[in-house]
This record gives sequence, structure tokens and C-alpha cells, in this order.
Amino acid sequence: MKDKQYFNDLAHKWDEICTHPEEKIRYVMDKINIHKGNSVLDLGSGTGVILPYIEEKIGPNGKITALDFAENMIKISKEKYKDLYKNINFVVNDFYQFKTEISYDYVIAYSCYPHFKDKKAFFKKVNGLLSNNGKFVIAHIESKEKINSIHNGIESSINSDKLQPIHMLEDLVKSHGFEVIYSEDSQDYYILVCNK
Ligand SMILES: C[S@@+](CC[C@H](N)C(=O)[O-])C[C@H]1O[C@@H](n2cnc3c(N)ncnc32)[C@H](O)[C@@H]1O
Repeated sequence: MKDKQYFNDLAHKWDEICTHPEEKIRYVMDKINIHKGNSVLDLGSGTGVILPYIEEKIGPNGKITALDFAENMIKISKEKYKDLYKNINFVVNDFYQFKTEISYDYVIAYSCYPHFKDKKAFFKKVNGLLSNNGKFVIAHIESKEKINSIHNGIESSINSDKLQPIHMLEDLVKSHGFEVIYSEDSQDYYILVCNK
């Protein structure tokens, strides 16, 4: 099964099967340092798990693009948040095809980086979407071992999506012109924050 169909089929129960404890998301957000008025791309946004936390940081003058290629995920996210927040643009599109006039202060790949299989095209795209001082974040609230074992057990194209030891990811992002400002590869988190 292809990734898009896999996530579309799961969307209606995503918020029940995935737990994202508040303290763990806050831990990640504390590493990111987003400011009031920032523009943020929430990449692979799904049902919008981190949207309220980004909103808290950017306030009503900031902007969010919630992007996902699984329309069922975005539909649920919209139902939850479109009346609550007026500064979110919900977009159904494949990230590799996504075009916009906005230069983002932050591109956040929360709990989705392994699913982007063409890494070269991925980093090029992220680079093109960021403003000159923009920051790029890859974050998971589990260890890479836990994430990899979850993906291993799934019978779809997802089972090839793996997280590497973080030093390998650091080398990869550096080879694409990013500067690493924070990294963590622990029992509880896998986080990389980079400057463009
Ligand atoms: C594991 S889910 C995480 C969703 C959300 N960030 C969360 O933590 O609940 C990964 C998401 O990435 C999306 N995704 C994967 N590849 C994508 C692509 N090429 N373009 C846009 N979205 C993509 C999937 O549809 C899915 O919703």
C-alpha cells in the first residue's frame, strides 16, 4: 500500500491511536524558539497535533501553513481548528509539488521526516521555502529505535521509512547547506534544529 492511501485510511482514527503527551510536545517546542508573528510550515501536518502549540508561540499575527497530501487528515484538522484559528492555511498537496509565495521562518517536520523518501529533493525543497534566517526542524517524541520498530511492523511502503543515528542526519543536512544548532537522539526524543 502506498503512503498516501495508508494515511488517508487511518485518518479517522489517527487521534485515538497516536498519543502525543502535552509535556513531550512542549519539550520539543522549547527547543525551537518560535516567536510572535513568525510564519511556520507544519509539514506532514496530519490531523494538526502540533497546531495549537505553534499558535501559542506565533499568536494571531503569525501564519501557519498546515500541509499534508492525505486529504482525510487535513479534513479532520480543519474540522478541529478552522473556527478556532483564523491564521491557518490548510493545504492538501504533495510536499515535493508544493509552491507558495511565502518564505517561512520555520519549516517543521514533526513525526513525518522518515516518510520523505527522496531526501535530496526534500532538503532542496525545504531550503527553497525558508527565509534567509529560517530554521528547519525534524522532531519525534520517541526514540529512533521505537519509530523504526513501528515502521517495521507496518505492511505498506512505510516499512522502509527509517531514522538514522543522528550524527548521520547531521552530516546529511550539513551537506545540503544547513547549520545544526541543536540535536538530540535519546530514549525519549529524536530532534534536529538547523539554520538555513
Ligand atoms: C506519521 S504522520 C504524522 C502526522 C502529524 N505530524 C502527527 O504527528 O500526528 C505523517 C504525515 O505525513 C504526511 N506525508 C507523508 N508524505 C507526504 C508528502 N510527500 N507530502 C505531504 N504530506 C506527506 C502523511 O500523509 C501523514 O499525515
